[in-house]
Amino acid sequence: MKVPPRPASTIPLIGRILRTPIMKCLLWPMEQLTAGKTMPSDGSGIVKTDRLSSELLRDLFTNRILAIHLPAFCTAEVCERMTTNILKEKLENWNIYDLKTEFKPSDVNVFGEPFSMANKSDESWHRYFQNAISTSEKLRSMAAPYVSPYDKFRIMVDELWDDGMTVARYKGCKMSPGLVRVMYDNTETVTETSLGCHVDSSPLLSSNSGQFSLNVYLKQPEIGGHLYLWNPQITTMHEAIGHWHSVKHFFLESNYQNEELQLRFQKLLPPPIRIELKSGDAVIINTGRPHAVIPFKGGPRVSLQAFLNYKKGQPIGIWA
Ligand SMILES: [Fe+2]
Repeated sequence: MKVPPRPASTIPLIGRILRTPIMKCLLWPMEQLTAGKTMPSDGSGIVKTDRLSSELLRDLFTNRILAIHLPAFCTAEVCERMTTNILKEKLENWNIYDLKTEFKPSDVNVFGEPFSMANKSDESWHRYFQNAISTSEKLRSMAAPYVSPYDKFRIMVDELWDDGMTVARYKGCKMSPGLVRVMYDNTETVTETSLGCHVDSSPLLSSNSGQFSLNVYLKQPEIGGHLYLWNPQITTMHEAIGHWHSVKHFFLESNYQNEELQLRFQKLLPPPIRIELKSGDAVIINTGRPHAVIPFKGGPRVSLQAFLNYKKGQPIGIWA
């Protein structure tokens, strides 16, 4: 199998430019000027429906709605079968990429290879591409004799979306079309405050392109584990610079489990919108919108997770 050359960095070019000393110096006055500035809500909300449609997908991809919530996307039988099979597997810790410390452990374990960890070494880079399709086949077999939720979702979107859906490619090479996340109890006393508010892609949103994510919750914990979504909307570079202090210190830097940063910057966001999740539900969000999992106990919490690349006029690309 021909694997594309391993890049020096998988951070998008814009992120690398903004972190150069000259850009930091140029933006320093804006950083000071915009400290403490609040971000308004864009008024978008969550659509809860049992029927996905091309109109709903369009509204989500163009950021007119905050999320699509599909209750009971998969049956209790599928959830139980997949969860039992997944928990028999050896899981790896999902390392978060941090600019200061490089890769650091998180509270998420994973079955399958995340692209965000592939660039750790030459060996993990090759393993990612080599295992991409076999992991997908394995997940399919874990759901058998039922249809895998990933396959169901891919067929549905391919049918509904004019430009279809396909496995995303990195420099021509097929990526992994999805993986499994397993989280264990992360709190002694469940509180409503989540310290995990973050974005996974640029907070500068566009109606022509963006990164979204599909999450299918196979097993929800007994208490907590629901989702918080925030709905500010930054669509121009002018707005991004106008909120530069928050963008730089909260969205572009690692704020993971940092109580001081989380509480300080969550105050500047509009109030979060909560999605109450049950086992079997699916949710699609824009990963450039701030989101967090509410602390939980009575786990593990098991979910399928894949990213969706949207680009106007092109097939939706699914990858993980
Ligand atoms: Fe995320």
